[in-house]
Amino acid sequence: MTPLPPNSEVAVVGAGAMGAGIAQIAAQAGHRVHLFDTRMGAADDAKRSIGDTLRKLAAKGKVTEASAEAATGRIVAVHALGDLVSAKLVVEAIVEDLEVKRKLFRELEVVVAPQAVLASNTSSLSITAIAAGMKQPGRIVGMHFFNPAPLLPLVEVVSGLATDRAVADLVYATAQAWGKVPVHAKSTPGFIVNRCARPFYGEALRLLAECAATPATLDAVMREAGAFRMGPFELMDLIGLDVNFAVTKSVWDGYFRDPRFAPSILQQELVAAGYLGRKSGRGYFDYGEGVTKPVASTEPATPRPPRIGIAGDGVFAALRERIGRAGIAVDGPPLLFPSDGRTATEVALSLGHPNAVVYDLAHDYASCTRLAVARADSCSDAAYAAAAGALQAAGIAVSRLDDVAGLCVMRTVAMLANESADAVTQGIASARDVDLGMRNGVNYPIGPLAWADVIGLPHVDRVLRNLEAHYGDPRYRRSPLIARRSATGVPLAE
Ligand code: NAI
Repeated sequence: MTPLPPNSEVAVVGAGAMGAGIAQIAAQAGHRVHLFDTRMGAADDAKRSIGDTLRKLAAKGKVTEASAEAATGRIVAVHALGDLVSAKLVVEAIVEDLEVKRKLFRELEVVVAPQAVLASNTSSLSITAIAAGMKQPGRIVGMHFFNPAPLLPLVEVVSGLATDRAVADLVYATAQAWGKVPVHAKSTPGFIVNRCARPFYGEALRLLAECAATPATLDAVMREAGAFRMGPFELMDLIGLDVNFAVTKSVWDGYFRDPRFAPSILQQELVAAGYLGRKSGRGYFDYGEGVTKPVASTEPATPRPPRIGIAGDGVFAALRERIGRAGIAVDGPPLLFPSDGRTATEVALSLGHPNAVVYDLAHDYASCTRLAVARADSCSDAAYAAAAGALQAAGIAVSRLDDVAGLCVMRTVAMLANESADAVTQGIASARDVDLGMRNGVNYPIGPLAWADVIGLPHVDRVLRNLEAHYGDPRYRRSPLIARRSATGVPLAE
């Protein structure tokens, strides 16, 4: 499919945070961009601030001065919808309200030519519902950028029931020509990323609600063991707790209150208190002047044991090797067990021996700098000290969590993969596009489906079954695709 030619005019309606970013991208790609906003002066302000941004990029050598100047010159702030008459693609980025958007699209339909494509940047509304009742619903499509649009590569191209495939393909090719990474998605609550990323926040909030550890500790584990750029709590503080809570609620409602997406009472309380994160000076963390950020809890240095037994093959073998390289003999009955969705106490009880310490998943056991562990209630102090000492001798900081099922990274990744697998099962997107979406929209170190393949699907399947048995909560029910692929050995990722 060929993209919109650069000499075609693009219109952006709504000159707020997203509209300005989208206008900048289109102008940098060579299009003349007409920018419209109902708020007096908003389009002119946005043009000015895009000009400032591009000049700063030129000063840093990221773009040439001439191209910055030319791109700014291609943006025209207009003051009436009728001025968008020659646009070949209109991207709407106005207030997130179905009726307001529908009214705008009805007006746009009679302004632009019949061949023009009408795209919405909505992150939560149904494209099908926006298009319903329009004269040409086939030309209405989602073009969902991520914030900040000029920096984040992902664009979800969202098709409603009536969207013409050729229209979705044109928008896909155009996003690609603009230097973005597009993916196709069906119009469903949260599309790909806002749906499949829910467990990243949801499992962290469950762990916090169970007093497994502090936000600072859980964040550190997710960063240093999980290789996520940011921990869930610092990220929610950055996004805004109110925004994050609203997205969770809208996906939960959208899926008819499926317990998979159930929001957190703890988060609701913080929102009710006005603790909205960085923007209000306080969220999970306090950003007040002179307040030092709490640090992760880390076990004190413990003597290295001469030998230790560690269970875990496949991806987990790398931890054994690392501890072996630290000069500790790795043999004898296992004391350290990889998390399989059970608590350490459940592991100890099932084995009939009291000393069990469960260790969390790491993105890369060979290089991680921290691991979460939990000890069984029956585990002796000496056995626990040996486990902590062995990990520390290998250069790994140890964060002890309360004895929760599935620890932190393991249960989060299993649930991310589970949600992603369901999105594929339900035909919302291809496995390739789900993984691409999660890497480029929320910066995950690896797509959740590919990650589940690396861990081994039988293990991920076991984690989910154990979590479901432990909590008795259908939130943890397995995706049929994980159940099937773990049995057949066919990978999830494409
Ligand atoms: P914003 O509040 O910064 O900007 C919205 C702009 O639209 C305002 O300048 C407002 O005056 C204007 N506007 C409102 N009604 C209008 C109308 N009928 N005609 C013309 N202009 C109108 O909002 P933001 O954050 O830029 O979001 C815009 C859209 O992008 C929403 O649909 C939102 O869901 C979506 N989105 C937002 C993301 C974010 O992180 N902020 C990320 C991805 C999508």
